[in-house]
Amino acid sequence: MTDQRFLHNQWSSRLAFVLAASGSAIGLGNIWKFPYLAGENGGGAFVAVYLLCVAAIGIPIMIAETMLGRRGRQNPINTMLSLAQEAKAGPAWHYAGWLGVLSGFLILSYYSVIAGWSMVYILKMNSGYMSHISAETAARVFDDLKSAPEIQFIWHTVFMAATMLIVSRGVSGGLERATRFMMPGLFIMLILLDGYAMSSDGFGQGMSFLFKPDFSRINGESVLVAMGQAFFSLGLGMGAIMIYGSYLPDHVSISRSTIFVASADTLVALLAGVAIFPIVFANHLEPTMGPGLIFQTLPIAFGQMPGGSLFGVLFFVLVFFAAITSAIALIEPAVAWLSENQAMSREKACLWSGLSCWLLGLGTVFSFNLWSGNTWFGKNFFELVDFLTANIMLPVGGILVALFAGWIMRRETSETELEMGSAYNYWRFTIRYVSPLAVALVTLSAVGVI
Ligand code: PHE
Repeated sequence: MTDQRFLHNQWSSRLAFVLAASGSAIGLGNIWKFPYLAGENGGGAFVAVYLLCVAAIGIPIMIAETMLGRRGRQNPINTMLSLAQEAKAGPAWHYAGWLGVLSGFLILSYYSVIAGWSMVYILKMNSGYMSHISAETAARVFDDLKSAPEIQFIWHTVFMAATMLIVSRGVSGGLERATRFMMPGLFIMLILLDGYAMSSDGFGQGMSFLFKPDFSRINGESVLVAMGQAFFSLGLGMGAIMIYGSYLPDHVSISRSTIFVASADTLVALLAGVAIFPIVFANHLEPTMGPGLIFQTLPIAFGQMPGGSLFGVLFFVLVFFAAITSAIALIEPAVAWLSENQAMSREKACLWSGLSCWLLGLGTVFSFNLWSGNTWFGKNFFELVDFLTANIMLPVGGILVALFAGWIMRRETSETELEMGSAYNYWRFTIRYVSPLAVALVTLSAVGVI
């Protein structure tokens, strides 16, 4: 190992890792994306496939990716390189690290735009004019935002600048502090919204939409989307959890920590779904309305609650925090690589990666207005970047992690790192056979190869 192993920062405790990994996992993926994907892809059946993907594919890969990170203790590219050396495999494995850096970068470019929307909604809720808002007005308010590139431009810029500021302060300064207070708050707000949903007319219909699977409503592409969402939401296949694992002290149980994080992540997504769909049905809205779903439904709920403006502000502030703790995970691999390999200062690495990511994000801003007519394979710019990353690049990254951990890394190495006792064999079988085959089958069949 190089000296970097010792220079590389470490988390102050296991709790700090769990908080940071949850911060990376829990984000717009849970609150914004999961509900609208479930709405677009048939509800219950999508949710069932999603849960299966988290358990059978996501968790084993999450354990593997964290383990690779801790073993390598460097940025994803160098980690893959030195682990390949250790296992006497070829250096080409470091391309897996590259793929991850690129995926994180692409995802952050649009993630920042959507996080900007949530910042706009903090102000809108605060202005009070959302109180007793009708479904039509809520839809119009959202459409106005979507068709205003200049407003999205401003908030995308603000969000990206805030992210890079936190990232530039390094692991224990910025990252740990940012994650500590956000999650409990978010959890409480979601429970509050769920309470409101329970009292609404649409509750029964919302619940059966979400939890009563009707498998005739999904196809190969929805299964791919569900699997991609499992990767996206857990933050897998792109080196984020690998780099967080690289900051993890030895002898902390990787399996226990990751299962905890995955469960929390799934719970938050389900709580968000439970909050949203009753509102959809009570107001005769379409579950298939897409990325605007939470922005067009939740203001209606807040508008009817006593103290709703305050809760609405709080909620979108928490969404902002959830987004920023994921954003720092998305860009961390690129920044760590630039600063560790290119001898750039951390500040400079942040500046360059932030600037280029911001520039690419303008494509997403314009895809909702000026460029909405420009499509490739039937997808606009935002949809294309999203599809490529969540449904192709993250799963491919996940397969590579699984293959490396299961077939390339020596058995003794992973057995010592994981300290899982008898569960080890189960994990090893899954990571060698089940996860890579399942991911490959789903991806290939959805893109029409098989
Ligand atoms: N998991 C995050 C979310 O759900 C997004 C993310 C993806 C973060 C990949 C890190 C890596 O919003």
